[in-house]
Amino acid sequence: MIISMIVAYGKNREIGLDNKMLWHISEDFKNFKTITSGHHILMGRKTFQSIGKPLPNRTSIVLSNSGFTFDGVHTFNDIQKAIDFAKDSGEKELFVIGGANVYESLFPYINKMYLSEVNYEGKADAHLKELDLSTWNLNEEKYYEEILDTRGDITSPSWTFKIYNKKA
Ligand SMILES: NC(=O)c1ccc[n+]([C@@H]2O[C@H](COP(=O)([O-])OP(=O)(O)OC[C@H]3O[C@@H](n4cnc5c(N)ncnc54)[C@H](OP(=O)(O)O)[C@@H]3O)[C@@H](O)[C@H]2O)c1
Repeated sequence: MIISMIVAYGKNREIGLDNKMLWHISEDFKNFKTITSGHHILMGRKTFQSIGKPLPNRTSIVLSNSGFTFDGVHTFNDIQKAIDFAKDSGEKELFVIGGANVYESLFPYINKMYLSEVNYEGKADAHLKELDLSTWNLNEEKYYEEILDTRGDITSPSWTFKIYNKKA
C-alpha cells in the first residue's frame, strides 16, 4: 500500500491558524477531492474537528489519544493500527491529510507527496516541518495563477502543485 501525504503550505510552511485553513483556493480543493476520492484518509483529531464531518466518498480514519469518537469515523490511538486498518480493507493508497502533528509523526511512513506550495505569507499556529527533498524525485509540477477580484485584490493566491515519489 502506498502511503501518501497531501498538504498545502505557505512560504514559511504555514498550514493553519485557529484550527482553520489560511486561504481559499477552490482549484486546490477540487484537486484534493479528485485525488483522495474513493480512498482512506488519515488525520489528527483536530483536523477532523476543523472539517467537522466525514468527507463523502472517502473512509475517514482519525488518530486520537483522548477517546474521541464520531459517527462514520474510525478512530485509533496507534499509528500502526490505523495503517493496518486501511491495508486490511484493501486500500492501495492511503492519504495522510494532516495536520501538523500528524504530518510529522507519519512522515517516516510516507512514500508519495502531493504538495501545494502557496504564494502566501501570514500568521499561523500550525506549520509543516522542513522537508528534506534529497531522497525524493519530483514527478509532476504545475503552476496556477493568482485570482483577482474586480478591484485587483487577490482573492486566491498563486500556487504550485508538485508530486514527489520517494527514491527507491
Ligand atoms: N494546509 C493543509 O493542507 C492542512 C491540512 C490539514 C490540517 N491543516 C491545519 O492544521 C491544523 C491542525 O494541526 P494540529 O497539528 O494542530 O493537529 P492535528 O495533527 O490535526 O491533530 C492533533 C491531534 O491528533 C491526535 N494524534 C496525533 N498523533 C497521534 C498519535 N500518534 N496517536 C494518537 N493520537 C494522535 C491527538 O488527538 P487527541 O488530542 O484527541 O489525543 C492530537 O491532539 C489546523 O489549523 C488545520 O486547519 C492544514
